Amino acid sequence: MSAQNQQKRISTTDILQRKGKEPIVSLTAYTAPMARLLDPHADILLVGDSVGMVLHGLETTLPVTLDMMILHGQAVMRGSARALVAIDMPFGSYEESPQQAYCNAVEIMQKTGCTAVKLEGGRHMAPTIAFLTSRGVPVMGHIGLTPQAVQVDGGFKVKGKDSDRWAELEADGLAVQEAGAFCVVLEGIVEPLAKQVSSKLSIPTIGIGASSACDGQILVSEDMLGFADRVPKFVKRYAEVGQMIDQAVGAYAKEVRERSFPGPDHVYTAPK
Ligand code: KIV
Repeated sequence: MSAQNQQKRISTTDILQRKGKEPIVSLTAYTAPMARLLDPHADILLVGDSVGMVLHGLETTLPVTLDMMILHGQAVMRGSARALVAIDMPFGSYEESPQQAYCNAVEIMQKTGCTAVKLEGGRHMAPTIAFLTSRGVPVMGHIGLTPQAVQVDGGFKVKGKDSDRWAELEADGLAVQEAGAFCVVLEGIVEPLAKQVSSKLSIPTIGIGASSACDGQILVSEDMLGFADRVPKFVKRYAEVGQMIDQAVGAYAKEVRERSFPGPDHVYTAPK
């Protein structure tokens, strides 16, 4: 397909222009078929490093590699045409230096064709974000509860319960914005803080467990679709796909055991 015939994807400028306007719909996607289903509805599809926990059964996102992100990113790009696709930079692929981050972000963009990368961290990552954005790599920030810091934080802990720490999170948001991020994920922060940060920033905030005070929301698709038994408290389940799979597979298993499933004679013409 020539470049002219391709459907135009939502751009970083489109997302920036949504500040304070129509809320941004964002979901995670890791595979082509899921991306195909989500693409007509979502503004941003994030190939999150949550893929490690959701699809690969890992306890944390820390073991996720650059190659995994690229493989899933390629699948999501093949399955989508409209949404902006952002891909998480996995733990260890960007923290060492802005140069390391740049090399790995370029590899992600060149091998997948995605629009942007996401990386975790506030003020301390701002020089890296500035290095990337000034060299053509669009960055989605991620502050608040940052799952890659789970071991230093001692768990996945909601931030901002103590208002003495609010100024720090606001400073993180401003630093990420100043560094050139086109939007920022606010994860696991109390509603009044999400409201305060969203009102102080001129870039859109996209909340996850951060209330509707943000400029949009992102959820892990498998959580909101009901694949998993246990999901974070703030997640509304819009479907019970896990139960549907259980029922369907149960019916299939029963038919196989009873030998009542259709054979080739139902599909092909039997030889005379
Ligand atoms: O990895 C991920 O899926 C994320 C979102 C939940 C924001 O970072």
